[in-house]
Amino acid sequence: MSAEPAPATTAPAHHPLGALAARVPEPLRATAAYHVPRPAQILAKLDANELPFALPDELLEGLSAVLRDAALERYPDANATELRAALAATLGAAPEQLVFGNGSDELIAMLCSAFAAPRGTRPAAIAYPVPTFVYYRLATIARGLEPVEVPLTSRFELDEAAFVAAMEREDPSVVFLALPNNPTGTMWRCEFALELAARFPRTVIVSDEAYLAYSGQTNLGALVPEVSCPNLVVMRTLSKVGMAGLRVGYLVAAPALAQHLEKVRPPYNLGSLPQAAARFLITTGASWCQARAAEVVQQRGHLAGELERRGFEVFPSAANLLLVRTEPGRAHRIWQALQDRGVLVRDFDRPGPLAGCLRITVGTAGDHQILLEALDQVL
Ligand SMILES: Cc1ncc(COP(=O)(O)O)c(C=O)c1O
Repeated sequence: MSAEPAPATTAPAHHPLGALAARVPEPLRATAAYHVPRPAQILAKLDANELPFALPDELLEGLSAVLRDAALERYPDANATELRAALAATLGAAPEQLVFGNGSDELIAMLCSAFAAPRGTRPAAIAYPVPTFVYYRLATIARGLEPVEVPLTSRFELDEAAFVAAMEREDPSVVFLALPNNPTGTMWRCEFALELAARFPRTVIVSDEAYLAYSGQTNLGALVPEVSCPNLVVMRTLSKVGMAGLRVGYLVAAPALAQHLEKVRPPYNLGSLPQAAARFLITTGASWCQARAAEVVQQRGHLAGELERRGFEVFPSAANLLLVRTEPGRAHRIWQALQDRGVLVRDFDRPGPLAGCLRITVGTAGDHQILLEALDQVL
């Protein structure tokens, strides 16, 4: 008779999962699920960094015609052949340099899974500055990998020397740099990603360009038309340019790296409708998206000024969001009072570097009027 195997770790007493809790990586036990509040009445939705404009009728008509042709009784094209060809042509990349994800969230998870080989006796490490996009951490700890979190300065600038030192110490598999960063909006030195890629050839350096439409800065030139950085990944999403409902993200990398990531891509991860819609929108709809993003950039400066006039500290932003700070505790009360008035912003006010902070997505002039009127009642 074989002996009872020892439990993976000791289960905490009274965990809702009971005996199963011992099977959950310890940092994940202490983590809450990604929660998105949905109040009944929404007058201005400024909480998720979406583009605030709906597609115009002429694009909607073209889109409906494209979607009508999708064969929904069949699985989608697992290779996203037509979308791939259209996007490769737009970027000047080779089709085999692209990998698609169900949102770039899925690409983040795939990158962690694909480069999870342990460092000797220790699990693989994934490095990123903090505070940053929360899913880098979730994707890391869900796989039992080790997060290496390098604090930003008090002004949310990247401490490059500290970051390099952490990489030398921890030898991470993957580095995520959000350029510009969410939730701070800060644009760090874009070429830093390229410098890291050259200095640490055993690490995948991800230039997460989710907010490219608002920053205008990219590292794509190191991958297209020639690959000069074989360990660089440029990651983008359609979510911030008017297509958050599609859930389409993509990355560009050297063909060998892209082929490796394909091994961990869930089969058929992009449905037929998102594939067809994304293809239509990045071709026929591209100039509409660009023009709307440019409007948002204009609105950003105006909104920043109005928020400053109301006493908030407003951090410089190269994205479609503004991080603002007031006293800890007060920010949370303002968030609640705004939500009660149908104005959604994102609350980051908890102990830590974002104490006293709210993140406000840049919206339309109409959204801002609703926000500012609500703020004037609340403050
Ligand atoms: C920096 C950054 N990267 C990636 C994402 C994920 O975007 P999606 O999964 O919608 O493509 C976000 C979303 O807010 C983000 O802020």
